[in-house]
Amino acid sequence: MRVSDTADLWWKNAVLYCLDVETYMDWDDDGTGDFPGLVQRLDHLVDLGVTCLWLMPFYPTAERDDGYDITDFYGVDPRLGTHGDVVELIRTAHDRGLRVIVDLVVNHTSDQHPWFKESRRSTDNPYRDWYVWRSDTPPDTSDQVVFPDQEDSIWELDEKTGEYYLHQFYKTQPDLNVTNPLVRDEIAKIVGFWTQLGIDGFRMDAVPFLLDTAGTSTAEADRLPDPHAYLRDIRAFLDRRTNGGILLGEVNLPFDEQLEFYGGTDGDELTMQFDFIGMQATYLSLARGDAGPLARALTGRPATAPESQWATFVRNHDELTLDKLTEDERQEVFAAFGPEPEMQIYDRGLIRRLPPMLGGDPRRIRLVYSLLFSLPGTPTIFYGEEIGMGEQLSVGSRLAVRTPMQWTSGTNGGFSRARASRLPGPVVTGGYGPEFVNVADQRKDPDSLLTFFRLLIARRKECPELGWGSFEVLDQPHTAVLAHLCSWDDGALLALHNLGAEPVVVPVALDGCGAEHLLADLLVEGTTALDERGRAEVPLEGYGFRWLRVVAPGTRRLL
Ligand code: GLC
Repeated sequence: MRVSDTADLWWKNAVLYCLDVETYMDWDDDGTGDFPGLVQRLDHLVDLGVTCLWLMPFYPTAERDDGYDITDFYGVDPRLGTHGDVVELIRTAHDRGLRVIVDLVVNHTSDQHPWFKESRRSTDNPYRDWYVWRSDTPPDTSDQVVFPDQEDSIWELDEKTGEYYLHQFYKTQPDLNVTNPLVRDEIAKIVGFWTQLGIDGFRMDAVPFLLDTAGTSTAEADRLPDPHAYLRDIRAFLDRRTNGGILLGEVNLPFDEQLEFYGGTDGDELTMQFDFIGMQATYLSLARGDAGPLARALTGRPATAPESQWATFVRNHDELTLDKLTEDERQEVFAAFGPEPEMQIYDRGLIRRLPPMLGGDPRRIRLVYSLLFSLPGTPTIFYGEEIGMGEQLSVGSRLAVRTPMQWTSGTNGGFSRARASRLPGPVVTGGYGPEFVNVADQRKDPDSLLTFFRLLIARRKECPELGWGSFEVLDQPHTAVLAHLCSWDDGALLALHNLGAEPVVVPVALDGCGAEHLLADLLVEGTTALDERGRAEVPLEGYGFRWLRVVAPGTRRLL
């Protein structure tokens, strides 16, 4: 791959930003965020430097899972806007150089979807086979449910016909039957519809569940011979319909299985996948003040096709899942960052945001984001992270982190002028409320977290080696320190992060470098000389970090 390829494989060097239109900005003051409000705030996102928006579901919904229970895949929730508003958003975003991807939630529909209403009517209804039904008594599946607080089986008896339907998530979210060719055709139409409106790809919900066709009542012969062939089909279809559209998949599985969802090293299935393992290891490393777990996770990533890419994150819209840690490791993270029962959910995750978990310590908060933006992969942020929003624990569910965006210190954090009771959920109260944490104040403050985010993102974009390059963890003696080098083409970036509270001096030795090379700080002023064997001693404060560009003689890069 050469420099000239970066524009086409745009996701390799992107910065993604996830938001829910419902909670972002309310422009008509009815209490619900809307597309016109988001359009008004695009310049905040441009200013921040993100390059691609991921919109959480904005389709008509029964609202039993915050929009992930869709009643019309081709529609727009009227509270949020119209198709016209969506097109204006896409058009305006593109005008500002921002791409837009949208959630594709086709593992299931809402039980209020007209297809399911038909399907449950009778066993011979034409839509019966759009869902997964069984007539025999299902086995105990209580260990397979995703939301153990509400469900104890993935099968639900439907009184009318006396059969059971499959629902991997809530019982109000019956699973579609992708072994049915009509369902597959319909999914393709959904993909085609939104791409025709100009979107740049999809965040694909619950991909392993979508492909899992065990339990389908369809005759053996009609089953998907190879579920991955179906994923390849979707990708190929998207490729034909778009110029560089991506599939960013939610696949929370061990790395070797994730590789299969990329299509192995052919890279012809999902374009990107979230790195859930790296995210969980980050928290374990932070809890221990030991970079080891994170280093092992990063070096444990399987090799992929050059087009494939990991999406890195430290927070998303769901519970901060710790399901891939061992029980002891999970308890360590709980003890460090969420010791109270009301901070935990499903025995596997936390419903907190990062700043409160780190006790508001600005050094550690910045350390984490410096890591996020310097790790190999494509950083993905969840709205509000850029200003250090906290959670509203009293919400008591995953929604604790989906509170209205905090724009100003005023009423409702400037999100809406409607009465508080009309908002989708409470605005954060307490020390992380809008009075203390908001965009308007941080925009003008050179020392704010928002200003720091802008710097990280701007520098990150100048370092294609982070998204594209080879990655190596360097040997050095401090367990608290992660020293990593990303190299690609004529660039190399050495990043040092000290996860411990004690200051350290990190000896580094760079192969192939000598006294003619320099290390130039990218986040602050400063250069460090290397000796004739490419060695230097770099001091780091407690929780300190440095981004050091390895400068070759005669470089023309901006330093
Ligand atoms: C994914 C989403 C989650 C949703 C679930 C069911 O895991 O991230 O928010 O509840 O799918 O659609």
